Amino acid sequence: MDYAAIRHDGLARIAAAPDLASVEQLRIALLGKHGSISALLKTLGAMTPEQRQGEGPQIHGLREAVTVALAERKAALEEAALDARLAAETVDLTLPAPETPRGTVHPVSQVMDELAEIFADMGFAVATGPEIEDDWHNFTALNMPETHPARAMHDTFYFPDQGPHGGQMLLRTHTSPVQIRTMLSQGAPLRIIAPGRVYRSDSDATHTPMFHQIEGLVIDKGIHLGHLKWTLETFLRAFFERDDIVLRLRPSYFPFTEPSVEVDTGYAMEGGRRVVGGSGDDPGHGWMELLGSGMVNPHVLRAGGLDSDEWQGFAFGVGVDRLAMLKYGMNDLRAFFDGDVRWLAHYGFSALDVPTLSAGVGAPAA
Ligand code: PHE
Repeated sequence: MDYAAIRHDGLARIAAAPDLASVEQLRIALLGKHGSISALLKTLGAMTPEQRQGEGPQIHGLREAVTVALAERKAALEEAALDARLAAETVDLTLPAPETPRGTVHPVSQVMDELAEIFADMGFAVATGPEIEDDWHNFTALNMPETHPARAMHDTFYFPDQGPHGGQMLLRTHTSPVQIRTMLSQGAPLRIIAPGRVYRSDSDATHTPMFHQIEGLVIDKGIHLGHLKWTLETFLRAFFERDDIVLRLRPSYFPFTEPSVEVDTGYAMEGGRRVVGGSGDDPGHGWMELLGSGMVNPHVLRAGGLDSDEWQGFAFGVGVDRLAMLKYGMNDLRAFFDGDVRWLAHYGFSALDVPTLSAGVGAPAA
């Protein structure tokens, strides 16, 4: 057997292999289970000891040389492929840099995210409802039957269309209908907040026809006003990031809560604007109204399909735009909805300012 010729031929074919696939084909043809060199190795068994002493080292040497040549060719081809890729993927540093992103997160969106973060930490889920609402969910189920005088206070935008439970379709005047929708769809117990747009036909420096509220609703057994007060205090301390928030609870009236409580907070004037903190009775301080709340009226629990002897709850509703103005120091609500890019650049937030409890829910405006 002319091992030298076989070796010469094998090494030449390996050296000429144009790509990795051909190298692999050669490996199988030479060293594979049915490969030609493997076949030579098998002939050793049938040889006499003398023959084996002479040919054995030659066959093993052949296999060794081919194995090394295959590995070297493979490495060389891989390196060439990498070089080609590196040459093709160069970055052209003379291209102009992309324009700096200019959009900002609107303070209302930022505050809603802050509120969701704070309440999520207290075990509240976020619920939603439609902005085009029917009369029953917006009024009747909230203990405001058709003749109820409180309806007149809502300056409602009506549609000509009839709603499913009688009465006209309308733009919801508050987020409270989400209370009813969530009770009906999820039952009790419940711990939700419902942020969203609401509409009233009203417009001046502190009122816009569309504004934002966040509703809170807790339903469970043995819920009382103390739970409401603790929840509001904890939320407001986290939101304004100060411990000296003092609340004053005043008896009030909402058809859907009984008793109803209006919540004021102490503030001081600093640099021409209201800054929340301290008791309103402290020197230089005053009280301002912040939100409406109360214990859920049993009529409302029943409209939500719950047994009012078994379940109690509290609810609150607060203006998100107002919270944003107080926290970030804007004084004209109308500017919120003008879409003026200078205002947005000044009061907006970087998309990277994601509110988290650990990093702070109140990152300063960019
Ligand atoms: N829905 C009331 C409003 O818009 C606020 C409120 C919500 C009051 C829940 C009590 C309980 O004025």
